[in-house]
Amino acid sequence: SKNLFTYDPGFVSTAACESKITFIDGAKGILLHRGYPIDQLAEKSDYLETCFLLLHGELPTAEEKEVFVNTIKNHTMVHEQLNHFFNGFRRDAHPMAIMCGVVGALSAFYHDSMDISNPEHRIISAHRLIAKIPTLAAMVYKYSMGQPFMYPRNDLNYSENFLHMMFNTPCEEKAISPVLSKAMDRIFLLHADHEQNASTSTVRLAGSTGANPFACIASGIAALWGPAHGGANEAVLNMLEEIGDVSNIDTFVAKAKDKEDPFRLMGFGHRVYKNFDPRAKVMKQTCDEVLAELGMENDPLLKIALKLEKIATEDEYFIKRGLYPNVDFYSGIILKAIGIPSEMFTVIFATGRTPGWIAHWNEMISNDYRIGRPRQLYTGSPKRDYPSK
Ligand code: SDX
Repeated sequence: SKNLFTYDPGFVSTAACESKITFIDGAKGILLHRGYPIDQLAEKSDYLETCFLLLHGELPTAEEKEVFVNTIKNHTMVHEQLNHFFNGFRRDAHPMAIMCGVVGALSAFYHDSMDISNPEHRIISAHRLIAKIPTLAAMVYKYSMGQPFMYPRNDLNYSENFLHMMFNTPCEEKAISPVLSKAMDRIFLLHADHEQNASTSTVRLAGSTGANPFACIASGIAALWGPAHGGANEAVLNMLEEIGDVSNIDTFVAKAKDKEDPFRLMGFGHRVYKNFDPRAKVMKQTCDEVLAELGMENDPLLKIALKLEKIATEDEYFIKRGLYPNVDFYSGIILKAIGIPSEMFTVIFATGRTPGWIAHWNEMISNDYRIGRPRQLYTGSPKRDYPSK
């Protein structure tokens, strides 16, 4: 593939290098995973199949898929000692604070015997992360609720299992709604990878030092937490609740244009997309399906979101700046309908993004790479001598 840009090799850090995993055309609103358009994957594939595609570069055969699904299924439990890490946190700690801690702690349990120069060990690490992150995410939620952790079940598929660990208790194991598990799978899939965004670049930069993959993913989780990035889905729901009624939308849109006190409409805008985020279109369709299945078509937050989208996407200010709904704009409404609280939304984003992070890490480590060293433009004081006494 031709170099997408000419650069002085001494200048570009390892993190900003070529990749074969995901392609985005921001002007046209195109997103391809290994060449497959995101809307086709959302319609015809599923999350674990997309994880395989991101990691290995091709869709799995039926046999490869069965082996992959069973491998992931058989690694969903975490070491019992990990349970103790939760007890140091207050029950009301932000779930992302706990997630940063316990994912980083995986290094202490699963990395000692791994050699990242061994391709098989790298894939084993990827399998462990894809398998165990949902278990840890559900444990984070259970801890905040003061409920016991639920063990994963091998008779359930990936997304059913996640909802089981989130919402079932030892006293009652309810059947998992196929509508909700399908919606959960679609949300994970739509978050699976997105080229070299802030958190993925963080994972690549950490990986370029030779740090172990569990620590690298923990660094990606920390970067994702920010409201300008993965924390936006939680911020969108807080914003919709603050707007409270469609009659207040104009006030918020006016605030977003106020240069004196710039308020940003959460869930709008993107570093790359200056058109509709293709994931937002699929997310909106999923939102309609889930709310209809749940008889929540008249959800007040959905009404506000639809009205806000209409007003903003017809407003010259936003159109001129290429501000359209992004992946975070509708995801929160679906997650809320599934029963997941807003402070858990970025944990869900991190869970879905794990295969993308680890595929980028593996791609970099599998090729010649150098330690990332972003160069700076120095604007400080010129050389000067220490004053004589
Ligand atoms: C994700 O990179 C990725 O791929 C990330 C992600 C992924 O999958 O990994 O897609 C996930 O992070 C999606 C983005 C989630 N963030 C939000 O929804 C938060 C709200 N959005 C913004 O904070 C903002 O749009 C960013 C951070 C996403 C992009 O910021 P930029 O690059 O600084 O935006 P810009 O330079 O393109 O802004 C152009 C103009 C500016 O105004 P002017 O100075 O030209 O007058 O648009 C304005 C900005 O002030 N603007 C907004 C706005 N976003 C940009 N004005 C109001 N509301 C907004 N949301």
